[in-house]
Amino acid sequence: MNSNEINDIFDSNLAPFVRPYYDIPLIVSKADGVYIYDIEGKRYLDAYSGVATVSLGHCNKRVNDAVKAQMDNFGHISYIYRFEPAAAYAAILLSKCGGDYSRVFFTNSGSESVDLALMTARAATDSEAIFTFSEGYHGGTFLTKFSTGLNTWHAPVEAPAEIYYITTPECVTCSHKQCETSRCICLNKACEKFEALNKKGKRPILLVEPVLGVGGIITPPLHYFKMLAEIIDEYNVFLICDEVQTGFGRAGGSFFGFQKYGLDPDIVCMGKAIANGYPLGAVVFKEDTSDRVKDMLHFNTFGGNPLSIAAALEVIKLIDELDIVNTVEENGRIFLRDMRLFFEDRPKINRIRGVGYSLGLEFEAPEDAAEALNSARREGLLVGIGGRKKNVIRIQPPLIFSSDNFHETIEIFKTVLK
Ligand SMILES: Cc1ncc(COP(=O)(O)O)c(C=O)c1O
Repeated sequence: MNSNEINDIFDSNLAPFVRPYYDIPLIVSKADGVYIYDIEGKRYLDAYSGVATVSLGHCNKRVNDAVKAQMDNFGHISYIYRFEPAAAYAAILLSKCGGDYSRVFFTNSGSESVDLALMTARAATDSEAIFTFSEGYHGGTFLTKFSTGLNTWHAPVEAPAEIYYITTPECVTCSHKQCETSRCICLNKACEKFEALNKKGKRPILLVEPVLGVGGIITPPLHYFKMLAEIIDEYNVFLICDEVQTGFGRAGGSFFGFQKYGLDPDIVCMGKAIANGYPLGAVVFKEDTSDRVKDMLHFNTFGGNPLSIAAALEVIKLIDELDIVNTVEENGRIFLRDMRLFFEDRPKINRIRGVGYSLGLEFEAPEDAAEALNSARREGLLVGIGGRKKNVIRIQPPLIFSSDNFHETIEIFKTVLK
């Protein structure tokens, strides 16, 4: 098929939920390491990694060899049977979480992980009320769509639960500027609701992304998390951390964002980079939570499938061998510094922010962000877009991105932002 034929089928026969990113859709023919090739053979530096997922690069040989070896042994068996790599992986994953985490359930995606976490939280606490950030994104199932604060993602139907959206801590633009010294005014309303729930003997359920990715790479400061941790203690809040984007080293400095920011979630949700793009998610529980739902039956056919588990085992080994967690912190810090140095005073740019290998370039106008996205593609660089107004360019490259790759990204942006 040629590109016109492929585009015709996509436009006429695929459900219209996903809009193509570019004026002219990108049709991929091959990918390798940090590069993607289109149907005409043009090479792109991939600074978006399949939406913050292919962290160890496309077609990573070690990961693919592990999958191939597993494929030749056995493929699908379903959750009803046990196999050694799944046991080994569960043990390693729990050790990476540390603390009191002792149970894991394997899912097929980030959405499924968050959905299960919310259902478990409601069952474990006997509470209905869910609190999330107003610019958060948590997935595409009925419940996770509405737990997403960005309401463009809501479906045109009634919400399936009682969900409250807390003001996103965009502290750099906040006019109150008091949360460094006292309780943030943005959390007052939530605290009132927490108190009311406590009075009824209920625990509020709070679902947070440590870094808000789809919301435009919003990075709450450390003091905000410290204050949040105090509130969580005070109101006995049941905390779920959505580590679908921040997990497996992307935030830099630690394996998971909750460790970096000093949070102690009851449940941790994972997906995306867990298996370098092979479909897998995980929900990690503390013993007391899983104890409270031990009579709940839950099953999925493909969850923890042997091929994805083989990939996930190799991913963890590689993250450790390549010292990804520390490299991401160091390179990410330099990249953020350089991007600010070159571009922060450009007229159409509001600010540049980020942590680890997630960087957001916030434009004043969505049209300028869209133009930058298309222009970067013409120059051979793939990036993403986010933010409530779709005015933030997201740079979330594979975690194997080198200093040279970042240098090339900056050089392309010099042309794009001329
Ligand atoms: C923070 C976060 N949670 C959950 C999800 C949903 O994951 P998935 O698309 O794999 O279902 C995403 C996807 O972008 C995400 O960024």
